[in-house]
Amino acid sequence: MSAYIALVPAAGSGSRFGAPSPKQYLQLLGKPLMWHTLSVLAAVPAMTRVVVVISPEDDWFDSFDWDIPKLEVLRVGGSSRAASVHNGLAALAAAGEDWVLVHDAARCCLTVAMVERLIARVADDEIGGLLALPVADTVKRATADGHVSKTIPREGLWLAQTPQMFRCAQLLRALKNGVEAAITDEASAIEMLGLQPRLVEGEAQNFKVTYPADLALARAILAAGKEG
Ligand code: CTP
Ligand code: MG
Repeated sequence: MSAYIALVPAAGSGSRFGAPSPKQYLQLLGKPLMWHTLSVLAAVPAMTRVVVVISPEDDWFDSFDWDIPKLEVLRVGGSSRAASVHNGLAALAAAGEDWVLVHDAARCCLTVAMVERLIARVADDEIGGLLALPVADTVKRATADGHVSKTIPREGLWLAQTPQMFRCAQLLRALKNGVEAAITDEASAIEMLGLQPRLVEGEAQNFKVTYPADLALARAILAAGKEG
């Protein structure tokens, strides 16, 4: 039987957030932000391993008490997200047919139910798939000076989230071509092989903490989850 391995790129600097530490280490309900992310992944019964990829220069990780089952750390982060994922996959020592679920450290409001939905819908798929959200708003293309040049029909448009779930060997092969092409998710590397990943409905709360205002929203969602 194939294993399910969570691979969490966490080697970014959080430049858009602009805090003194990378956003994955910001305090959220008394824990580093990505503690919440890693805890959810570890709480999925089917998950065999939870592997976080940090930068070789990371001085923060060891200063926290993680206390998360299944957790492993690889200090092989690279200069882009794709490079961090590629390096992590290359260092994983997994079987080629094992599933890897790549998930952004900064998407800390993921739930066990979302991960289980993805696994249930993709485990029988030839290629793999990702959580994504159908676009709900009307989409505009802008001119260079910030006016509307055109309305884009939203039918068939989805916003990619993570986890993105593929076979270890195939994803590594795909990312070898993709690291230079500045790809921002695993699915686009797989698409470059001419393959079509499956889209599985995610949820709005699975957003990526990117700007300072996102932190208050994440805190409210996580606090509500603990009460309920
Ligand atoms: N990431 C990574 N290695 C990099 C860049 C990003 O592992 N060289 C990780 C981030 O830590 C994050 C995820 O990829 O968990 C998504 O990236 P993003 O939200 O863009 O985070 P940052 O790159 O840290 O933020 P910014 O782009 O604002 O600098
Ligand atoms: Mg980035």
